[in-house]
Amino acid sequence: MLNFEFNNPTKILFGKGQIAKLSAEIPAGAKVMLLYGGGSIKTNGIYDQVKTALQGFQVTEFGGIPANPEYAVLMQALARIKAENIDFLLAVGGGSVIDGVKFLSSAALYDGDTPWDILAKSIRTFKGMPFGTVLTLPATGSEMNSGSVISRAETGEKLAMGGPGLFPVFSILDPEVVRSIPQRQLANGITDAYSHVLEQYLTYPAGALLQDRFAESILQTLIEVAPRIMKDPSDYEAASNFMWSCTMALNGLIQKGVPTDWAVHAMGHELTAMYGIDHARTLAIITPGHFRFNFDRKKAKLAQYAERVWGVVEGSEEKKALAAIEKTEEFFQSMGIATRLSAYTADFEGTAEKIADRFTARNWTKLGEHKDLGPEQVKQIVAMNY
Ligand code: NZQ
Ligand code: ZN
Repeated sequence: MLNFEFNNPTKILFGKGQIAKLSAEIPAGAKVMLLYGGGSIKTNGIYDQVKTALQGFQVTEFGGIPANPEYAVLMQALARIKAENIDFLLAVGGGSVIDGVKFLSSAALYDGDTPWDILAKSIRTFKGMPFGTVLTLPATGSEMNSGSVISRAETGEKLAMGGPGLFPVFSILDPEVVRSIPQRQLANGITDAYSHVLEQYLTYPAGALLQDRFAESILQTLIEVAPRIMKDPSDYEAASNFMWSCTMALNGLIQKGVPTDWAVHAMGHELTAMYGIDHARTLAIITPGHFRFNFDRKKAKLAQYAERVWGVVEGSEEKKALAAIEKTEEFFQSMGIATRLSAYTADFEGTAEKIADRFTARNWTKLGEHKDLGPEQVKQIVAMNY
């Protein structure tokens, strides 16, 4: 096991009716901005619950943060935060709204001229404006981590940011929000969380027995609840396990003491930036080819995953490892997620070269758990998934 430090300060309020506790979590006298997305919260009752819980606070609202939160929209929110002397942000939404609020938390206290530099120059945030979240879509884990991913249409970029100052102060996780989530987003949420575990687990053996079993148990739980949640999102037991699995998949715990990969996410983000493909679907596209390309180096973990998660116990290490890749792809497909780029765009020729060129321009030459995947390997991996 590798050395590590672990600190996750986010307070979680989990379960039915927890939104009502909101007011006790926000500092008295705070000037609050409530931020949300395209309006789903107005039709599923979450907005009303939040507004009721916020009675007594001075609240201003900013709606319209799009999926893949857009820099230009966030800059409008930033201007209002400054003009109205806001001092507490409340994100009510999925990963996009929460990530947008994390950017704002950082940008509100940033004293440089161009907030985009926080992303483009990878400036870590050590202190941000305090914020809380009411999660409406289990998927990203953003509700209990300090990372954020922001898109910029003007330049076709999608870049990550983060830092210890960007943990939510609290996050409210009420699994009842799951009942209004459309099938497409349910499948996305399960797939994204599943991929988060794979990025932190599917590397090489590091003697971290407990972390491996944490990871495997999250994968098993997602596999178990996926058909239930897809069939009936109002199944509270399935929804609560789905929600907590997504949070646990990316709150830092399972990555402690182990090597991590994250190359699938790096490549996937480019597919969203180029074609607007949903984040989770880009991961389903890249994962099988990535595992095949890195087969020899990931073989031991792939075989362990095949045995412990998929129950494939027969055959050689190689055979089990190959079965694991097939099972993974079939799992994504079982939720209606296509695993080839050509299913999303007819215009896929040249994608691999374009992504490799972008990575070259950014000097991204050390991806993967061995920190040795550069643009040339990225080109080959992406091309394997057409
Ligand atoms: O915008 P509204 O109207 O709220 O509708 C949303 C949106 O259209 C809808 N939705 C959310 N909750 C709902 C609901 N519809 C009905 N009922 C509900 N209860 O779902 C749609 C998608 O929402 P979005 O927030 O975009 O989805 P998700 O949570 O998957 O977030 C994706 C974003 O997070 C980033 C992705 O790159 C992407 O930009 N990620 C963030 C990470 C992090 N911060 O740690 C890690 C991830 O790997 C990921 O990169
Ligand atoms: Zn993800």
